[in-house]
Amino acid sequence: MADNAADDLKTLEAQGLAELHGCADEAALRGWNTRFFGDKGLVKAALGKLSTIPKDQRGPYGKEVNRVKEDLTGAYDAALAEAKDKALQASLTANPLDVTLPGRSRPRGRLHPATQILRQIYAIFADLGFQVYRTREVETDELNFECLNMPAHHPARDMWDTFFTTTPGVVLRTHTSPGQIHVMREAAGKPIRVILPGMCYRNEAISTRSEIQFYQVEGLVIGEGVTMADLKGTITAFARRMFGPERQVRIRSSYFPFTEPSIEVDIDWPADDPNRDRLTKGTGWLEILGAGMVHPNVLRAGGYDPDKVTGFAFGMGPQRMLMLKHAIDDIRLFWQNDLRFLRQF
Ligand code: PHE
Repeated sequence: MADNAADDLKTLEAQGLAELHGCADEAALRGWNTRFFGDKGLVKAALGKLSTIPKDQRGPYGKEVNRVKEDLTGAYDAALAEAKDKALQASLTANPLDVTLPGRSRPRGRLHPATQILRQIYAIFADLGFQVYRTREVETDELNFECLNMPAHHPARDMWDTFFTTTPGVVLRTHTSPGQIHVMREAAGKPIRVILPGMCYRNEAISTRSEIQFYQVEGLVIGEGVTMADLKGTITAFARRMFGPERQVRIRSSYFPFTEPSIEVDIDWPADDPNRDRLTKGTGWLEILGAGMVHPNVLRAGGYDPDKVTGFAFGMGPQRMLMLKHAIDDIRLFWQNDLRFLRQF
């Protein structure tokens, strides 16, 4: 083999290896590959030279050019694999991902305890044949008081500390009882058996037992021959379902202008609760509702004839019931939105 041809191949090999080792990454390596092994590449050119070599030297030249070709191919493959591995290692250490970490759970919401107890109340009264009826929170003085047998300046109005609006004669309802009038006027003489849940507002000193905003669930039953026994039976059946047979129900006589006779109903506070005396003012009982036989004047205001029909009504405090059920010692917790409290229900 001619010396200069053999030298050319040695130079090609040395140049190839040197440039290969200078390639910093995969892209550079691919450029190198085109330069040496592409159609117009240096190795191809060296192979093409074979025909210009004198016949007797072609054998050794061909062998040598093939050896150089294989040497460079092998070096390229190794360098490419190494570059890929390096890139992978770099990306792994740049964004460390710990696949053994537990997944991030999505916090689950739930119904507010007041909503939960309201739904329990609806369910119990649904079983007793009551429909749910909703009425407005902003009421007229006429429906909140007058139609309920409390004309202007009636002293019983003092039982409800009222929020007045800047519009004369418009108040935030102090109880759900004005709903009685709405239902009666809509039912127009037909028998009624409904509950009326909703928010009420009172301008009260906020304490552990009183809030300025709270839920009530009103009940109204009107028909021929409805009696006090029906009222007592309904309330007792409700209390048994809500609180269980072991809790005591106490019925006391009371006074409301819109019922005659009137009663109040208490449930005994859990006996083992250390806050019992404070929350029940030493009595052991907490009032959950006021009730009575609908006053004839109220029946008339609703368009019913008190000589033909009678009825009973009640107004209960669902939040008081929750307090009784779970020995919650502060009614203010309900609207403070403290998750430590709300999560317990
Ligand atoms: N509205 C009364 C209150 O808020 C409760 C009540 C309702 C009493 C219906 C009798 C009949 O205190």
